[in-house]
Amino acid sequence: MTSHTSDSLFDRAKKVIPGGVNSPVRAFGSVGGRPYFAARAEGPYLWDVEGNQYIDFVQSYGPGIAGHAHPKIIEAVREAALYGTTYGAPTEREVLIAEEVVNRVPGVEMVRLVSSGTEAAMSAIRLARGASGRDKILKFAGHYHGHSDALLAAGGSGVANQGLSGCDGVTAGAVGDTIVAPWNVLPEITDDIAVVCVEALPANMGLVPAREGFLQELRKACDDAGALLLFDEVITGFRLARGGATEFFGVQPDVWCFGKVIGGGLPVGAFAANTEIMSHLAPLGGVYQAGTLSGNPLATAAGLATLELLDAGAYQQLEATAARLAGGMQEVLDASGLTAVVPRVGSLVGIFFTDTAPTNFDEASAAADNGIYPKLFHELLKRGVAWAPGAYEVLFPSLAHTDEVIDRTIEAVGEAATAVAGSL
Ligand SMILES: Cc1ncc(COP(=O)(O)O)c(C=O)c1O
Repeated sequence: MTSHTSDSLFDRAKKVIPGGVNSPVRAFGSVGGRPYFAARAEGPYLWDVEGNQYIDFVQSYGPGIAGHAHPKIIEAVREAALYGTTYGAPTEREVLIAEEVVNRVPGVEMVRLVSSGTEAAMSAIRLARGASGRDKILKFAGHYHGHSDALLAAGGSGVANQGLSGCDGVTAGAVGDTIVAPWNVLPEITDDIAVVCVEALPANMGLVPAREGFLQELRKACDDAGALLLFDEVITGFRLARGGATEFFGVQPDVWCFGKVIGGGLPVGAFAANTEIMSHLAPLGGVYQAGTLSGNPLATAAGLATLELLDAGAYQQLEATAARLAGGMQEVLDASGLTAVVPRVGSLVGIFFTDTAPTNFDEASAAADNGIYPKLFHELLKRGVAWAPGAYEVLFPSLAHTDEVIDRTIEAVGEAATAVAGSL
């Protein structure tokens, strides 16, 4: 075990890693203070290098659906490692995981594995353009699809936290074919649009679900214009339901991207479609896409072990846990004197310090930037509860968050909120 402190490591990190972190939100820039450095994690808990224990609702921003270090996932990775960590040749587990996705997600016929959600979204866009012969893409403000150039326009999550509407280094040409539309307003879909990208349940500007009927209207508008519809299921995939947002909302897109849960905590992404669309991909077709570590043996072992845990009972448990958390939080927040709404869809829980749940990025930004979240975040950290260090993120309760852990969390939220309300 290390004798370093988070502070000493952060000082060293800042000298050799930009901002001291390998993903911007981890630097605590939008909540202030300095990050804790993680030493280990198990189930719902994470311990920092000083031995402080937190009930962790970050869960690596989504992969930890079974909680940290689930014994079955660890065993699968350990066993896989003994046979070699990467080959550059196809393996049985790649077939198994593709079959599992096809089996779970209505409409998916073929799957290509990559190593991150960013890569999945970037490749899915290229595929959609190649398959449709059209150039333009449409995305919604506040939806995050990873950090590839064309998709960085008006993103949520870390992009929103940095206050960046775009990004230095992304050329006008790279986003020249990207149209950004306001969320929850049916956009005009012209006949030069290849694909409409959507987080079917937006969870990178806080949790801002589609209004009733919106996804169905979007599906129809895409069909009318001959555009493809892409569900970015990097967060929702295998989380909202066995078949992700597609099953949960009963709307079927043409192209999917996945990440997080499908990798069980190892670097995996995937994109998928029907056989006709996927046949445009090399080596069958002219859309090139490749990866040295794609379908990596350890990552597919972790992903398969995770999916195996996710049966019907697991989804019922996740939903019940999230409902207990959201309901309990709303109650203690109301009692504290803070104005707050706690939206929940399936097992995802958001929080906004406003009286009405936001319905688009402008409303979400106004709520996220009102200064309450950072205060509550730090009060919670003091009480051993870790939320994400950014108001645009959501809470990821896992299968390891027992009722008792949830109740302790709710109690801490009540105390923290009372402390914040008293300081305003
Ligand atoms: C909806 C969505 N799409 C894509 C991504 C990018 O995934 P990754 O961070 O694995 O590149 C994320 C990451 O948070 C996401 O939430």
